[in-house]
Parts: sequence; structure tokens; C-alpha cells
Amino acid sequence: MYVGGKLREPIMITRIYEDYRRLSTNTAREIMRVVLEKPDAVLCLATGETPLGAYAEFVRQAKMQRIDISGIRFVALDEWVGIPPSNPGSCHYFLHRHLFQPLQVEPRQIHLFDGMATDLQDVCTRMDAHLSELGGIDFLLVGIGVNGHIGFNEPGVSFDRSAHVAELAPETRATAQKYFQGETVLEKGFTLGIRQIMDARTVILMANGARKTDIIQAAIEQPVSESVPASVLQQHPNSLFFLDAVAAAQLQDSSRKA
Ligand code: PGA
Repeated sequence: MYVGGKLREPIMITRIYEDYRRLSTNTAREIMRVVLEKPDAVLCLATGETPLGAYAEFVRQAKMQRIDISGIRFVALDEWVGIPPSNPGSCHYFLHRHLFQPLQVEPRQIHLFDGMATDLQDVCTRMDAHLSELGGIDFLLVGIGVNGHIGFNEPGVSFDRSAHVAELAPETRATAQKYFQGETVLEKGFTLGIRQIMDARTVILMANGARKTDIIQAAIEQPVSESVPASVLQQHPNSLFFLDAVAAAQLQDSSRKA
């Protein structure tokens, strides 16, 4: 298949773990592996409830082993438009709280979307340019929305897009209220595009729990379709689906246990 100008064979691996703890530990191990193998790696780590356990474990291991991450670069996957970095529901706040502060990551290592910018297109253009300068993403960890979105690539998105502003789907607006302290109006989000996700050297999609069971089946076992954006990862040259047993419960091929 044709990805980012190169012809590469898709390889998709599914690993199913018994529970959230094992899922998280194994995901943290993959992050650790990248950081150790490539001390100047470009990481794109999603926000959300799903990766919280993996980040806690990664931070614990990195501190315990005194891993030098001063050369690692971090780029955002997405951000809510109009939500300031001081808001605990923002992706900015999440990343600082769960990764950057505990790991003492310096501002020079971080490039996020500015949720409060007035020129939205400029934010996207600068993200595209920054990613090109970095040479793309080495390792991307992403969750999946109940509607199949990855980042804010909502159902119907073109797979050709790079960083852009998305109209948030109704499911996304509703589900996302859990991140905020009070009812919050969410209309748009910045997101890396599918093109940039597909250009990442390694992608891990992580999912757990019953809310994700049906959409995981669709993303992995139904034909690739823009109506389930995560399904595009079936065509990625190096993608891994890390699941707990509950999220994997509807998969037909049960030979995938880790
Ligand atoms: P969650 O979000 O990890 O909070 O379930 C996933 C997503 O919507 O991408």
C-alpha cells in the first residue's frame, strides 16, 4: 500500500492482555523501549483515560532507572479549541501533569497545539512544519473513541489530511465531559491528521473496557473505512493494537492472546 510516498507492506499485530494493569505495564514497556533505543526519538502520546496507567508506569520506571530523556521530543496529538492550558480538561494540562512535570521535560522538547490561538489555521501550519523539521513521529500512542476516532479524526475524515481543525462529533462532545470539572462547551479540536499518524514509524492503539468492545471489532476486523477512522491502522506498516480482554471480547480471531 502507499503511505507517505513509500510503498510498504502493512503489518498489524493485536495483543490481548488479561486486565488493565497488564495492558498498562506492557504499553509502558514499549514506550521505554523507544526511549532507550533512540534517545532523540519523537513521541506523540495521546491524552485520555486509557493511557493513564501506562504513563504512571512509564514515569515510575524512567525515574527508578534514571533514564535520560532530555533528548526526546514530544508533539501533541490533539487539543480542544478554546480551552486554556490551565483547564484540567485540556490536553496541555494532562500531558504536563502526567508526563512532563514528573519527568522534568523542558519546554524546548515540547510542541503542543495552542488551544487559545485565534488563528487556527496558523496553529495547524506550524504543527505541520514542526513535524516535518523533526522528520516525523517515531512512536505514537493513541486511544480510540467510541465512534472510532483517533485523535480528533472523526468519522468521515479524509485519510489524506495533515494537522487540521475538526468539528467534534456528538459522541466526542458528550463523552469528553468526563475530563472536565463542569459542563463544558466543546465544538472544535485541533488534531494531527491521518496522514501524519500513518507516517509514524510505530503506532500503538490502546483500548480497554466494555465501552470499546464493539468499536475495536469494527476497527480491526471490518474493512477499512473512513466511517471508522481507526480502521486505517490495518494498513499501517507497523501498528499494534494493545487491548484488554474485555475490549477484545468480540474479535473473531481469538489466537491473539499475549
Ligand atoms: P479515553 O478516550 O481514553 O478517555 O477513552 C479515547 C479517545 O476518545 O480517543
